[in-house]
This record gives sequence, C-alpha cells and structure tokens, in this order.
Amino acid sequence: MKHFTHLRDFSSAEFVALAEEVLRLKKNPPTDKPLAGKTVGLCFMNPSLRTQVSTEVAAVSLGAHAIVLALGTDTWKMEFEDGAVMDGAAAEHLKEAVPVLSRYCQALGLRSFPNGASWAEDKKEPYLSAFKKYATVPVVNLESATGHPCQALADLATIKERMKPKGKNFLLTWAPHIKGLPMAVPNSTAEMAAAGGMNVTIARPEGFDLDGEIMKNVRARCEENGSSLTVTDKVPEAYEEQHVVYAKSWGSIKDYGKPLPSDAAFRAKWMVTPDKMKKTDDAIFMHCLPVRRNLVVHDGVLDGPWSVVVDQAENRLHAAKAVLLNLLAPHKLETAARRHAR
Ligand code: CP
Repeated sequence: MKHFTHLRDFSSAEFVALAEEVLRLKKNPPTDKPLAGKTVGLCFMNPSLRTQVSTEVAAVSLGAHAIVLALGTDTWKMEFEDGAVMDGAAAEHLKEAVPVLSRYCQALGLRSFPNGASWAEDKKEPYLSAFKKYATVPVVNLESATGHPCQALADLATIKERMKPKGKNFLLTWAPHIKGLPMAVPNSTAEMAAAGGMNVTIARPEGFDLDGEIMKNVRARCEENGSSLTVTDKVPEAYEEQHVVYAKSWGSIKDYGKPLPSDAAFRAKWMVTPDKMKKTDDAIFMHCLPVRRNLVVHDGVLDGPWSVVVDQAENRLHAAKAVLLNLLAPHKLETAARRHAR
C-alpha cells in the first residue's frame, strides 16, 4: 500500500481483507511498539474529534510519535496552485511544505474539506492531490471532498462485528441538516457497502444524487459482487428488510452550496425515527458522528437498541492502526495476523 486516500484504489477483496485486519488488531493489539522511532504528521484544515484523536492514539500506541498540525493556523498559510503569484495571504507553497514535512515524518495525514463554491473544482481535491504529488512518504486521507476512507474502513469492520448473521441489506439514507454538508462520507459509505458485498439502497430526496463517477464505481462493485443497487426517494418504505441503516446528510450537487429545505414536513419525512427503524429486519443504526440529535436522528434511535455509533467510533482507532501498520510496517502486521491465527 503506497497511500491510503481513496477506496477506488482497492479491490473489494482487498478492502474486506483490511476490515478483517482491523478486527484482528482490535482483538490482539500489538504490544511490541512496531512503529517505534517513526513520526506521523497529521495535518488538519478543518475541525475533528474522532479522526484526530483516534489516529494520534493509534500512532502512539504502536510506538510512533504523532504531531497534529492545524495547517494554515499552526503553520504558514499554504498555496497549492501551480504558477501562483504569491502576493496574498499564503506565505508558503505546498511544493516546499510537503517535501519538508516528508523529511521529518514517515507518513502524512491530511483533512481538507471542500470549500463549497464549485463541485467541479472541489472534486479535484487540490490540497490532497498536492500532498500525493509532493510527498515522498505515504499519505493518508483523513477526509477530503470525495471520500473518508478511514471512516469507511472502520464502518465495514463494525458491520462485520455487529450486523445480524447473514444480514446483507444496507440502507444509506439522506437526513436533514441545517446546511448542505460534504459528500465524502456518503460517497465512501456507498463504496464500502458495495465492496462489502451488501445489497445497497440509497434513499435520498430528488436532486440529492451522489456524484456520477462514485455511483459508477458503486454499481460496478455491486455487479461484481452479485448484489443489488437501488436508488429511491421512498421512505419509510426503503427501511423494510434492511439490516443496516446508515444516516448521513449531504448537500446537492445540482444546487451546490445552497441551503437545504427546512420545512417541518420534509424534515420529519427524512429524520431517522424509532418508527422507521421498527420497519427494518433488526437493523443496526450507524452514523459517522458528530450527529445532530432530533434533526438527523431521533433520541429514541441513538439511545435505543439499534445504535452502534460509539462502537463505530471506537473502531476508528483500530482502523487507524491497520492503515498505519500497512503503510509503515506491513511485515509486523503479518506477524500479528499469524500470531492471532495460531
Ligand atoms: N467521523 C469523523 O470523521 O469524525 P470527526 O469529524 O470528529 O473526525
């Protein structure tokens, strides 16, 4: 594994194997500090609780040193455009900053959200692309415009751990919010469920389709794995026979950057409630967090028997260990897996 930035870089079998590795590491955490002497640089351009803390704790527990940088706040403001005349706020170009960080750190992570003005521009992921171009060490995507692969890896591990035996039906449902959020999580969630061989249903209001290229990838994986893909605006019917309900709000590509509908009937239709969960086949309820209670999902679901959101968040820690070990010490990971198998 050279970088860990997008699900599209992995076959379904490879991604499933990685999720199984996450669960092995959870059961048998390495105790021999396999990353001793290494430093991981974690760069954040946006807020984070789970990603920052889980990746830092994973690195430290594997023996590495972790440095968390608020890029542009702790550091100089960064430019990414080729040929830019740097007479504005940015005092440093990523062309220097990323190679310099690569001399100090053995792996780099980056969180860089879209800026919400143009999907065509955001989709190019200029900061992550520059990190991949100029880094001389592995790069981990800690959430970009198009994906959140660390979350998806933890989520697939959680499904393997918590979904009812022989469950196969996965619902990704759009949910209300005060603003149009990035599509990174729903993109990676749909790709993850398809890679995991699930029958994928995406329930979303008209006008909230995911990006065409992502859907092409999801469709191809479902076909390859012999599972189905359904896109619908029919809720609560979409909840019927589901084994996993994954809620997430996202903005519209068609009306990019525009406010979401906020009328009460629309919100009530799309919020996840106990009544909707009761229509499922004993589904687990998943959300990447943070979540707005009683807007995205009713208290009765988060506090009820369906919710696995805290387990899901815990698995971010084990997923981060799997990613760091694969990138920095794959030979040590094989040893841990063999030890577990014995
Ligand atoms: N799920 C997730 O990425 O959480 P944070 O934004 O808090 O890191």
